[in-house]
Amino acid sequence: MGFPKGFLWGGAVAAHQCEGAYLEDGKGVSTCDVMHGGKGRMAEIADAKAIKANIEQPKGYFPEHTAVDFYHHYKEDIALFAEMGFKVFRTSIAWVRIFPNGDDAQPNEAGLAFYDALFDECRKYGIEPLVTLSHWEMAINLTKKYNGWAGREIVPLFDRYARTVFARYKGKVKYWLTFNEINMTFHVPFLGSGVIVDDPAKKEALCYQACHNQLVASALAVKACREICPDAKIGSMVASAIAYPYSCRPEDTWERIDLERKNYCLTDVQVRGYYPAWLKNYLAEKGIDLKAGADDERILHEGTVDFVSFSYYSTSAVSTDPAVTGEKGTGNLFGGVKNPYLKSSEWGWQVDPLGLRVALNFLYDRYQKPLFIVENGLGAKDVVEADGSINDDYRIDYLREHVKAMKTAVDVDGVELWGYTTWGCIDIISASTGEMSKRYGFIYVDKDDEGKGTLARSRKKSFFWYKDVIASNGEKL
Ligand code: BG6
Repeated sequence: MGFPKGFLWGGAVAAHQCEGAYLEDGKGVSTCDVMHGGKGRMAEIADAKAIKANIEQPKGYFPEHTAVDFYHHYKEDIALFAEMGFKVFRTSIAWVRIFPNGDDAQPNEAGLAFYDALFDECRKYGIEPLVTLSHWEMAINLTKKYNGWAGREIVPLFDRYARTVFARYKGKVKYWLTFNEINMTFHVPFLGSGVIVDDPAKKEALCYQACHNQLVASALAVKACREICPDAKIGSMVASAIAYPYSCRPEDTWERIDLERKNYCLTDVQVRGYYPAWLKNYLAEKGIDLKAGADDERILHEGTVDFVSFSYYSTSAVSTDPAVTGEKGTGNLFGGVKNPYLKSSEWGWQVDPLGLRVALNFLYDRYQKPLFIVENGLGAKDVVEADGSINDDYRIDYLREHVKAMKTAVDVDGVELWGYTTWGCIDIISASTGEMSKRYGFIYVDKDDEGKGTLARSRKKSFFWYKDVIASNGEKL
């Protein structure tokens, strides 16, 4: 048995974390261009004053401005992906390269040409591009004018952007995703949706409004994709939020259900086409009156996705018992309490390969749609030895155990899984900290947290390991 023939093995990045080339060829300033690096990055962007200061008077080093300069190195990088045998490469289109201010009347031809060249380069090696329309970046102009996705005005602007890229890349791109980790807006509104929260009391209402607008935009994108690229498949993307009850106290299990349904409710709408009953009640109880268009119900109903994709790094544990809620976990911005049965990465993300089997089964049972793992990996510091080698056995161990769990879900549990793209297949800027030293790649990039380095690429030990995994279709681990 094993993985099906044609299983899509590959790797993933996001435009803002790898491209660099700030303002080059007409690119506009995006929300990701105004975030400093460092462990305090998430706190900085949650602080309305700090983020506004970065927008109005940018000072200091902004890692995304240069990133790993994939914009100029893409040919070399894709050749390396091809050497590993990639069948698929996930990246995103930077909306600001196509519509620099988000609301421009005409698209920027130089930006469109860049992605033409990039997708052609992938296809040259038989690598399918898997393209996210929106991976956490939008024109800063749209944050200034409408407070990001909190403003309904963005929906038609996104529709125009989506239609522009579908028309341009039809035939070149067969797999699309609408919004990256759509549930992340609840945790980091500025990163997820370009929303600045001035008044914490209004945070929840703003987030639900931003998510509603994204859901409508996602459904419109699905409809546009079907119309313009009928042979393509378009999916949703959610950050996996598997949580374990810390104890068998019934309250802990309820806490788990509550955490999970709050994280999956947006995917529920993307798959089923309507809001879950509990969510309507919850919003009413909270006095959150979503501003919705007259046609929204119909649009959501008509724009359901073909498949469900997700990121998986970690799981969390939840408890309502004050005796254990003290020690927080930090996995992928979800928090929760620390699970004493799991080890943690250097960044405190708890490592749980079996949790991937749990996630695959949970999502397949819930949605009965084909699944795609579009992010998984270990962020770790790497050491370059005197001879230039990088012996990242810890990364190989992490990935091996996760691939085994994935294999069981496919083989034993019968989950329909289309593919697997590891996160940060080449070292890139970390989204949560802006650091380079939090590395995920099979390919090392010589650059440090201050932006210094030659940008030279080199193969890590995991590069050769993954090459064998792909060549054997997951048999040689
Ligand atoms: C996911 C995001 O949440 O996690 C990526 O979609 C991100 O953009 C990845 O890079 C890993 O997180 P980090 O903070 O380690 O880069």
